Amino acid sequence: MKVRCPPVARVGSLSVKDTKTAADAIQDEDGPQHLKQVSRIKDIILQKYLPSWERILVSRHRRLCHFDCYAGPGVYEFEGQKVHGTPIIAVRAAQEHLAKAKGHRMTVILVEKHEKQRASLQKEPKRVRPYGEGLQVHVAAKYVKEFVPKLLEPVPRLVPAFFMVDPYGHPLTVPILNDVLNRPRTEALINLMYARSI
Ligand SMILES: C[S@@+](CC[C@H](N)C(=O)[O-])C[C@H]1O[C@@H](n2cnc3c(N)ncnc32)[C@H](O)[C@@H]1O
Repeated sequence: MKVRCPPVARVGSLSVKDTKTAADAIQDEDGPQHLKQVSRIKDIILQKYLPSWERILVSRHRRLCHFDCYAGPGVYEFEGQKVHGTPIIAVRAAQEHLAKAKGHRMTVILVEKHEKQRASLQKEPKRVRPYGEGLQVHVAAKYVKEFVPKLLEPVPRLVPAFFMVDPYGHPLTVPILNDVLNRPRTEALINLMYARSI
């Protein structure tokens, strides 16, 4: 039986703005990596979810943190168009949040171990610069399984934080994820894709 996925434009209510996000010309020398449809859908879920998460916290918290634990290159090719990956989606969501929440602050930390991915990642947020008041974006050249525990150890309570966990293969270990999720007002979106040739 052949299973057909619906075109991504019909997933949820992809707005005109989403389509514009996806419509920049492809300019990179090598060209961005191709994005599979399942990954595009995951990105759209994140894009739809983050504004609601930020809205829930805004009344009581002036500072939020977003960790993209497996950031990737920041940009992909999808159906012939350039689309943003999770890091740029997070930066844009933060910008939109801060534009409405004057005087608030947000820190976005993008963790990526791979040099080539990082080079692309350093370049891509320039498209969304200037970041605007209150937003800090850091690219961490780290292995996330070492970085996150080191970061969390001395900090008993984080400001409200969102963890995007989207690895190839195995994610952060269960003890690390437990430590993350035991912290108050901390959420994670964990994407586990399972593929096996039979
Ligand atoms: C599936 S891609 C991320 C895609 C990205 N979340 C998006 O949708 O735009 C996974 C990325 O994680 C990076 N990565 C894999 N293991 C890592 C680790 N232990 N620490 C940091 N980065 C890692 C890889 O180099 C790759 O760029």
